[in-house]
Amino acid sequence: MILAGVVGYPISQSLSPKLHGYWLDKYALNGAYVPLPVAVDDFENVITTLPKMGFHGVNVTIPHKQTALRLADEVTETAREIGASNTLFFDDGRILADNTDAYGFMANIEANVPDWNPKSKALVIGAGGAARAVIYGLLSRGCSKIYLSNRSLDKAETLAEHFGEKVNVITNVEIEKHIPDVDLLVNTTSLGMTGYPPLEIDLAGSKKSCVITDIVYNPLITPLIRSAEQQGLSTVTGIGMLLHQAVPGFEGWFGKRPVVDDELERLILG
Ligand code: ATR
Repeated sequence: MILAGVVGYPISQSLSPKLHGYWLDKYALNGAYVPLPVAVDDFENVITTLPKMGFHGVNVTIPHKQTALRLADEVTETAREIGASNTLFFDDGRILADNTDAYGFMANIEANVPDWNPKSKALVIGAGGAARAVIYGLLSRGCSKIYLSNRSLDKAETLAEHFGEKVNVITNVEIEKHIPDVDLLVNTTSLGMTGYPPLEIDLAGSKKSCVITDIVYNPLITPLIRSAEQQGLSTVTGIGMLLHQAVPGFEGWFGKRPVVDDELERLILG
């Protein structure tokens, strides 16, 4: 039996066991995917032991995403650029650290807006870990310009320095001025999530073709998504990023490339 799982602390809130369990059942594979609560001090021991127990790899979540990079024998360019790993592959005694969040973000956009032009301009709100993955994903597909705003401007400046001249930091009050120029607007902050205030942006000046996407999926229809729908704009909700980011790990561990379908989305949201 092939084993995989998710390592974090705490881990009970993780949707990954349900997600991978759905695909294991659907494809009738001889495997299991388990939640593994592992404290910070135990992480290294556990990660070096799991391959000896039949694990082909694991997802890594808070608080281990940066430590996973340091422990790995090999790091993909994507994980290095994002500065964190969410997916480990165990291969013949070696640990390979990858990051599939950028892939998940782009695959979600492409699945929902197939004619979206990746070379167009984007506006990204937020400068945390998720923003790094989104910016890396957009730039790797040839995005020509990214306007970046964040509550703490210094964090946005750090990201712009890291990713180069295509990333232009703007202040929050400049967002509406730049909206008419962009083809994609992405919220990567916690705003709009249950328990947080909404992200309030006036979308009236946007192009008719502008795509509005939120990486928040709890609730699925955030105030930002609702306001975009009211303006008649194309929207992409956040749940697809979670589903698609799981695809490369599942394929690498269990040997079958899984498909993200509506039934899986309903299961995870339910
Ligand atoms: P993630 O890994 O999900 O990106 P994170 O690294 O903690 O999480 O980043 C959270 C993002 O949401 C940051 O951009 C944060 O802004 P700051 O860098 O200024 O902290 C943003 N954020 C969280 N709560 C916010 C709030 N109440 N108002 C504005 N931005 C908020």
